[in-house]
Amino acid sequence: MSTGAVTEDGRARVLADGKRIPLLGLGVWQVPSGPECVNAVRWALELGYRHIDTAQAYGNEESVGQGLRESGVPRGEVFLTTKFYPARKDPVAEVERSLQRLGVDYVDLYIIHWPQGGPTWAWPGMERARELGYARSIGISNFGVAELERLLGTATVPAVVNQVQFSSYEYRKALLRACQRAGVALEAYSPLGTGRHLGSETVGRIARRHGRTPAQVLLRWCIERHIPVIPKSTHRERIAENAQVFDFTLSDRDLEELDALDRTGGTDRALERKWWR
Ligand code: A2P
Repeated sequence: MSTGAVTEDGRARVLADGKRIPLLGLGVWQVPSGPECVNAVRWALELGYRHIDTAQAYGNEESVGQGLRESGVPRGEVFLTTKFYPARKDPVAEVERSLQRLGVDYVDLYIIHWPQGGPTWAWPGMERARELGYARSIGISNFGVAELERLLGTATVPAVVNQVQFSSYEYRKALLRACQRAGVALEAYSPLGTGRHLGSETVGRIARRHGRTPAQVLLRWCIERHIPVIPKSTHRERIAENAQVFDFTLSDRDLEELDALDRTGGTDRALERKWWR
């Protein structure tokens, strides 16, 4: 199956390295370590999610590992992402610690959380983490076009994912196009605008037209573009609701209305502000 293609069941996308990333994942940014995180992960897996996204910076990898084990879903069936915290020095040493906290032998995807200190310095360590079998795929997060191009100019093993803030309100069209051209799958974090977009009149109107919820419309907008998406919730019923996005489609008119919500001017940047400076 070719790069960027979606698998027959419509639920996963083929990455440039041949691995498959489920289009829907559970994100656990801002979920405190402990029962809240353990339950969210366990519920998601019980409800059919097969993709969990965490990071060293979130401080909840141990709980993610516990939720994974408690779910009873075999490790090999779950796509697990963690992210290198770029205030640290060594991606290999840090992923070894992640694996210990998670209680797994490898992660499916290991990404540089943001381009602190420049877009290229950490990449050899990321490549090494892959070579050592600690990560099946490697990628980046919060890289704009300029940073992506600099990285791809020096990489031996290309990045296969760029995870960025992305939704109809943050429709970074120029960044999406550059990723597509480079064979990098753009992955959407904060697809609900951390909850802010759920009250949108436009999204609500489209949701009513389909007998769906605003969250489902915002997530479907990504899925229709084959963009992996990782909504966060710690409520079982919302985790379930967010998974019901493979049994309806948005019309061209819906998509046009949603596209028009963009407030970034179709930017090629990943971020409006660099928080680590
Ligand atoms: P909670 O975790 O309390 O359920 P994003 O994925 O864009 O970061 O958005 C996450 C925010 O949206 C969280 O505050 C989460 O709240 C809320 N949320 C997630 N799914 C839903 C849903 N289906 N309905 C309403 N709010 C939701």
